[in-house]
Amino acid sequence: MLVNATKRLSEAGVASARVDAELLAAHVLGIGPGRLLLVDTVRGVELRRFDELVERRARRVPLQHLLGTAAFRHLELEVGDGVFVPRPETELLAGWGIEHTAPGATVVDLCSGTGAIALAVADEARPALVVAVERSPLALPYLRRNAAAFGTVRVTEADVTDPELLAGLEGRVDVLLCNPPYVPDGTPVPPEVAEHDPAEAVFGGADGLSVIRPVVARAAVLLRPGGVVGIEHDDVHGSAVPDLLRADGRFTEVAAHRDLTGRPRFATARRA
Ligand SMILES: C[S@@+](CC[C@H](N)C(=O)[O-])C[C@H]1O[C@@H](n2cnc3c(N)ncnc32)[C@H](O)[C@@H]1O
Repeated sequence: MLVNATKRLSEAGVASARVDAELLAAHVLGIGPGRLLLVDTVRGVELRRFDELVERRARRVPLQHLLGTAAFRHLELEVGDGVFVPRPETELLAGWGIEHTAPGATVVDLCSGTGAIALAVADEARPALVVAVERSPLALPYLRRNAAAFGTVRVTEADVTDPELLAGLEGRVDVLLCNPPYVPDGTPVPPEVAEHDPAEAVFGGADGLSVIRPVVARAAVLLRPGGVVGIEHDDVHGSAVPDLLRADGRFTEVAAHRDLTGRPRFATARRA
């Protein structure tokens, strides 16, 4: 069953064909993938369900949509139509945010989507408050459901480019994190992204910086002196985003960070 499914997925251009086949099989059987080798019989109904999921994956429906969840650091987040699937590379920005969150801190996560970054901070650090900001009416229900178990997380429906964003927190935020839409408009993306991630979660205007520019300006107002900001960006923006932070004039310690594949991935700075 796994051999045929892997072949079908490879032929459809799925890069991680074997892993995807195993995860779908484990999902159908209701077991962890590590236990697949111990399975000696599969019921007909399970086989049909598996074939159906493999066929949808071959049509490039994202694996996480078929599973209904995406793994992010120590969390399993609900995902589906209308919300951006959190990516492994964003775990690095979340990890940086967690390292910089002192007990009792106030943290803001802009462009929160499923809440991946906000909830990882709430889960792994001891903030007093994490404000998760999202605009999309389709993404917000996922964010609210994912955040429901976290008492320190406050979901706020707002546009992060609003010059008055979170006015009550001006000068009081310790850590501000943001994984915005940043792919330059018109950039070719795989079918999973083009057909299933919301366009407003992916594309950031002609140069990819249309959300990042106002976020940098607002971060300078929201952060307390000494507070820190971390912004994920496209790999073509390894210089552009650090330059925007320097050009603002209100930040020090501007730094560029690469992901595990060596690509420029996020920029950080400290409010002077
Ligand atoms: C790249 S996704 C990141 C989601 C999540 N933070 C993560 O890392 O998985 C960007 C998110 O920003 C939201 N978004 C886009 N423009 C926005 C805006 N102007 N104000 C608030 N949210 C916005 C999208 O709906 C999407 O959920």
